[in-house]
Amino acid sequence: MDYFQYKNNVLYAEDINLLDVAEKVKTPFYLYSKKTILRHFHQIKEAFKTIDPLICFSVKTNFNIEVLKILKNSGAGFDIVSGGELYLTQKVKASPQKIVYAGVGKTADEIRYAIQTGILMFNCESIPEMRLMDHIAGKMNKTVSVAVRINPDITPRTHEYIITGKKETKFGISIYEIDKIIRALRTCSHLRLKGLHFHIGSQITETSPYEKALEKVIKLVPSLRQAGFPVEYFNIGGGLGIIYKKEKVSLPHKLAKKIIPVLKKHDLKMIMEPGRYIVGNAGILVTRISYIKQSLNKKFVIVDAGMQTLIRPTLYTAYHEILPLKKSIKTFKVDVVGPICETGDFFARDRKIPVVHQNEFLAIKGAGAYGMVMASRYNAHPFPAEILVDNDRFKIVKKAQTYRDLLT
Ligand SMILES: Cc1ncc(COP(=O)(O)O)c(C=O)c1O
Repeated sequence: MDYFQYKNNVLYAEDINLLDVAEKVKTPFYLYSKKTILRHFHQIKEAFKTIDPLICFSVKTNFNIEVLKILKNSGAGFDIVSGGELYLTQKVKASPQKIVYAGVGKTADEIRYAIQTGILMFNCESIPEMRLMDHIAGKMNKTVSVAVRINPDITPRTHEYIITGKKETKFGISIYEIDKIIRALRTCSHLRLKGLHFHIGSQITETSPYEKALEKVIKLVPSLRQAGFPVEYFNIGGGLGIIYKKEKVSLPHKLAKKIIPVLKKHDLKMIMEPGRYIVGNAGILVTRISYIKQSLNKKFVIVDAGMQTLIRPTLYTAYHEILPLKKSIKTFKVDVVGPICETGDFFARDRKIPVVHQNEFLAIKGAGAYGMVMASRYNAHPFPAEILVDNDRFKIVKKAQTYRDLLT
């Protein structure tokens, strides 16, 4: 559930009238609801509270500094995948001991930076990466904590581009290569194995893929312990799905019921890395209608946001609900498209939406995760503003760029 609702026929975010905001701030802009972010974070925390998990918000989904601050102040740690993300977590003074670092292509500079910062652990994605980390740690005279990211060869039901745990994907080290992992760990004297990790994909709406992955990967724990590696943490990654349209999603407490007993039995501390679940439905994209264009056999609603602002529909043919800021009852069938010179620049195709007119505003929902972070400046459109709503106040937390910014 989110805090975007109509009141007196106008869409509100918490207690903020979005028409008022849209009249004041140049469109398009992203807008986030603090209450929604906190609600989702606390839902997860509550579901897993009996094992006191470390919840590492996945920075890749939304790295707005105020969003990171909200989560840090609520006790979240962070899941990062680049030096840039590490930098942002340090800007909000996140505890390095609550940071885990995944990604298949960490560079030597990034590894050095994370070791210097003193993060909790790296999630290692290959044996060459382990060797490079070991080499760098040795040079820095440090012992570095790592988890091995296991590719469990599991195929959850989601878009193929966001499946990450099946064997054909580039992520993690295959579950079938445990012997290789043990041999490599034995030769890496500056690495300390602290945990196991998997992340099987994103927008997963069922618990069964997690159960299957856990069942497979948990079997490695006794083998590793026997081999002299005292595995302490188990990281189940992120991936919890949200409602974009009418998906039936499994809520965190359902997942908790399946996961908690297994981790307890093996005396493991838990880490998880949710992103989309926390911020996905906490954000909208507000856009102004530039034109309504009737062509031969189609009506186009042309808006001032485009694939450069929110690429998910283009990239994954993702569905985002579209609502007018001023409620309207009648509907018409249209394509909602942006200004970009690409046929793939659309938000909806042949969709019935409420009747709207030129210069009115639309809210594109479910835009809080993988939205602004994937924006580009294609066709030389400067980046849009980002706004945070907190009860009856709103604040521009990142200004829109100007044409001058296109030079840098
Ligand atoms: C390693 C890792 N952890 C966490 C996440 C966050 O996933 P989600 O936003 O689906 O929770 C991702 C996303 O791809 C990821 O790659």
